[in-house]
Amino acid sequence: MTVHVLFVCLGNICRSPTAHGLFEHIVSEAGLSDKIVVDSAGTGGWHAGDPPDKRAQATAVQRGYNISHLKARQVNQMDYQRFDYILAMDEQNLNDLTEFKPVDFKGELGLFLELAGVDDAREVPDPYYGGDAHFNHVIDLIEHASLELLERIKKEHQL
Ligand code: 4NP
Repeated sequence: MTVHVLFVCLGNICRSPTAHGLFEHIVSEAGLSDKIVVDSAGTGGWHAGDPPDKRAQATAVQRGYNISHLKARQVNQMDYQRFDYILAMDEQNLNDLTEFKPVDFKGELGLFLELAGVDDAREVPDPYYGGDAHFNHVIDLIEHASLELLERIKKEHQL
């Protein structure tokens, strides 16, 4: 059985591609790439087709991750059929995802940090209008939560 994980933010150019790239890297290091499929999307479609924001790419590289190959896309109805975990970066993303959730969605939809079991923060804050410190904070939160999320998924799916 393959577990499908989708990270969602607003634009899919800062937070969710960072989570996508980091989680995929951590999954690969754990030797679980054939068991866990990772993707990301934005609730908005303005940046569809774009690579991650240069600042998000640079912050990722500083921490040893490459996210330059990723391309933004907007969430769609098929995502609710395909993904077992749909993980929102903030409350607004979660509200939007909840609004469009079909009644037969069988997966888990929630805040990334909450579902990962991280309890020092609930949201990964939008860094788009911020500076380096904001992007560093985003990657700190995502790195910690990604490790916790993998442990949770391994337990839940006996991986
Ligand atoms: P993200 O950041 O949701 O983390 O990708 C943003 C990217 C773009 C915009 C807002 C947030 N925007 O307004 O274009």
